[in-house]
This record gives sequence, C-alpha cells and structure tokens, in this order.
Amino acid sequence: MAVVPDEEDSSNYFVREIEKNDGAVLKIYQCSKGDVGCVVWDAAIVLSKYLETEQFCTSKTWSGKKILELGSGTGVVGIMAASLGANVTVTDLEDLQPLLEMNIRENQDLVSKGSITAKVLKWGEDVNDFLPHPDYILMADCIYYEQSVEPLVETLKLLAAPETCIICCYEQRTVGVNPEVERRFFERLMQDFDSEEIPTERQDPEFNSLDIHILHLRRRLI
Ligand SMILES: C[S@@+](CC[C@H](N)C(=O)[O-])C[C@H]1O[C@@H](n2cnc3c(N)ncnc32)[C@H](O)[C@@H]1O
Repeated sequence: MAVVPDEEDSSNYFVREIEKNDGAVLKIYQCSKGDVGCVVWDAAIVLSKYLETEQFCTSKTWSGKKILELGSGTGVVGIMAASLGANVTVTDLEDLQPLLEMNIRENQDLVSKGSITAKVLKWGEDVNDFLPHPDYILMADCIYYEQSVEPLVETLKLLAAPETCIICCYEQRTVGVNPEVERRFFERLMQDFDSEEIPTERQDPEFNSLDIHILHLRRRLI
C-alpha cells in the first residue's frame, strides 16, 4: 500500500517539526496509517542532529558531498543533509515514494546549496543507478527485520568504496527478535567493515540517548 498523505485531510497525517541549529524548521509529514517507514523514528532525529554537530559543520563537510540514504522512511535525515549543502538521494521501497516526495517538496525552500531526490532502492537488488560510490551512506533504524539482514549487508558492500563513510544510527532494542537481528547484522558486516562508535560527547548535546548508537563504518582494506 502506497503511503500518500492527503494534505487536505489532516486526520490522515501529522507533522513533526525539527528545529535546525540555524533556527530553520524542517516540517516532516508522517502518516496516521501505514508501515514502519511512515513515521519519524527517534534514531532519525538523533542522526539528523548529529549531522549538524560542529565536527562536520565548521569545516563545511557536507557542501557538494554525494550522500545516499537507505531506508529513508519520511526522509528527515536526507532532508537535513541536503539543507546543510549535500547532494542527497533518499531511498526506500516503492510504497514510501509519495511520502518522500511530499516531504522533499514541503522542505525545498531549506535546500538552497544542496540537492535532494527520492528513488526506489530495495536492499539486495541492483545498485548501478547509485554508483559511483557515495561519499557518505546514511541509515537510521534500518536493523530490525530478520529477512533484511543479508540483503542490507549485500547492498552496503556493493555501495561502499573504501573511502565511503557509512553513518549508521540504530536504537538498541532488548525484546523479541531484535537482539538476535542486531547481533547477526553486525557479525556479517564486521567481516568486511571496521566500526567506530561515536561517544555521546560528540553527538548533539540534547538529541542523544543511551540506547541509540551512532557508528561510522568503513570498508576494510584487503
Ligand atoms: C524503522 S523504519 C526507519 C525509517 C527512517 N529511517 C527513520 O528512522 O525514521 C525502516 C525503513 O526501512 C525501509 N525498509 C525495510 N525493508 C527494506 C528493504 N528491503 N529495502 C529498502 N528499504 C527497506 C522501510 O520501508 C522503512 O522506511
């Protein structure tokens, strides 16, 4: 089912506002009904605000950089990156494209130097449309589904060159299959990637949480 918020019918959607450090406000539409991708998850807020931290922004890190976001959902992370000057492609399944396009449209005024487009990318499928390799791959709360572990790892391996930095933000969950899914994902990924965990002091001082982790992952040189 495609997630299409009806702007005329406010019972169909609700808006989440995320204030940037420069005072501008991202306005992100979420749907009242739909799959997991149609709302903004906490990990997406933590990652979005991390992109604004001084370590990136004082050196104009994002300007002109090619960024690919996986499992973008509402698109908040990619929209934040584009508003900071990056050239971003947000991706998700076909059903999420109308919501992504709507959120891009609603926030287009904040994207002056960068750019942003939405495309379908299903993990495990062909990635030729997304090459050459991006400078950064962003992912928020994408490690939650047993069947996705292998395809997601394969997609990351195909998309990441040794100089690509994957910024992976995820909420550590302790119930159900989540711990096992997480364990398997990192076991598979660490065969080919090195990982650095970003301590709380290097995250946004307000938007961080002990159970939400940010990792920088880089392809190991053989
Ligand atoms: C928990 S949501 C997180 C959404 C968004 N990143 C956030 O944090 O707000 C997981 C996202 O992964 C997407 N997803 C799940 N399986 C996928 C697959 N096989 N290929 C591409 N995207 C997928 C879902 O559609 C959803 O948008």
